[in-house]
Amino acid sequence: MSTYIINGGKKLEGEVKVSGSKNASLPILAACVLNNGITKLYNVPNIEDTKVMIEILKYLGCKVKKSNDKIIVDARKINKFEIPEELMRKMRSSVILAGALLGRIGKATFSYPGGCDIGARPIDLHLKAFENLGININKNTGYIICKCDKIEPNKINLDFPSVGATENAILASTLTSGTTVITNAAMEPEIVDLQEFLNKAGAKISGAGTNEITINGVANLKNVGYKIMPDRIEAGTLLCAGAITGGNITLKEVIPKNIAPVIEKLEECGCKIDIKKDEISLQAPKKLKATSIKTMPYPGFPTDLQAILASVLTVAKGTSIIVENIFENRYKYASELMRMGAKFTIEGRTAIIKGTRKLNGADVEATDLRGGAALLIAGLIAKGKTRINNIEYILRGYENIDIKLNMLGAKITKEV
Ligand code: UD1
Repeated sequence: MSTYIINGGKKLEGEVKVSGSKNASLPILAACVLNNGITKLYNVPNIEDTKVMIEILKYLGCKVKKSNDKIIVDARKINKFEIPEELMRKMRSSVILAGALLGRIGKATFSYPGGCDIGARPIDLHLKAFENLGININKNTGYIICKCDKIEPNKINLDFPSVGATENAILASTLTSGTTVITNAAMEPEIVDLQEFLNKAGAKISGAGTNEITINGVANLKNVGYKIMPDRIEAGTLLCAGAITGGNITLKEVIPKNIAPVIEKLEECGCKIDIKKDEISLQAPKKLKATSIKTMPYPGFPTDLQAILASVLTVAKGTSIIVENIFENRYKYASELMRMGAKFTIEGRTAIIKGTRKLNGADVEATDLRGGAALLIAGLIAKGKTRINNIEYILRGYENIDIKLNMLGAKITKEV
């Protein structure tokens, strides 16, 4: 168990580059399985989740070479179709490999990814999409065994625009001899990145970024090189770090339109934001103002930034209201922030935050990835020392976040 120790109260200033997107890298790494050839990916963040995905790819028989942010996957000799339970347990989104395995070899066996710290996270929508594609699913053994002779292109209407189910449906339908149309598809930018990647490799997919995606099946993919998009959640996290410390920071290599709802909320809090092509500058006010947020599927406010903006709102003037509409249990971090002096009232999916003048350093526990990042953000402004235990959660999804924040003037040390 590793720990971050933060000496709070340092104003953040300067420029920082945003890393490649975690949530785009994971499905794109899974998509390498579809390519009976060699895929080169650039700008892949060096984080625990991408390491687990690489571990699974190797287990399945892929050759994987990694140097810095470049990963080369040779998937010509895939020889397994089961994802071992221990790897499945390490990362829920390994379920995304099912669609890719089914697309490539018509078979995939995996265990239930199970619940996690932010909610139950079922996979019924993924399985329903597979059934629509003529895939036979057996759930009687404790494992989920998916098989088909041939994927049957079809219409898939998702009951909810699930990001993972949309990605799995795309991956399973890429190599077919017909057309699949997904309606009520998730519209997240990471799905657009998956489409761009697959099309660069020879797929024929259109509509990502809207709620209707059409996949015209192709026989195979070809060798390809692709640069992963910047991480919009990391970008939002860094902006919140600038905001809470009264700072003045510039993010480089970012796609501003992908974080429009976050920019809007930070402006409502009184931050001045200047947007250039792939750069965002934030100047925080002397005193932040309260605001309210409701998390929604894209293009709404992202659930992954709910905890992080909530952290900022703990020191804003006035009362803020948050409604979490995506996951049912995403306020675990609040009790840890309360140990630092934050004032939360939680009722079901709603959190009411009464802004306080200051937070105090405390010993706190990260309980999930984004909740952990929220504690880190709070520690930056808290008086004295904050110790965050269990930072393994944070390391799953943020590349060098301590180093980046320290480059901007924070004082964070890591104890392993
Ligand atoms: C992805 C992101 C995660 C983000 C989430 C929502 C990755 C690797 N992870 O997760 O960071 O928080 O989108 O933006 O990209 N649901 C069902 N049945 C299903 C699938 C989902 O009920 O079969 C529910 C979930 O429990 C949740 C909601 O749908 O309440 C959204 O989940 P989904 O969009 O699927 O999120 P993930 O793809 O798991």
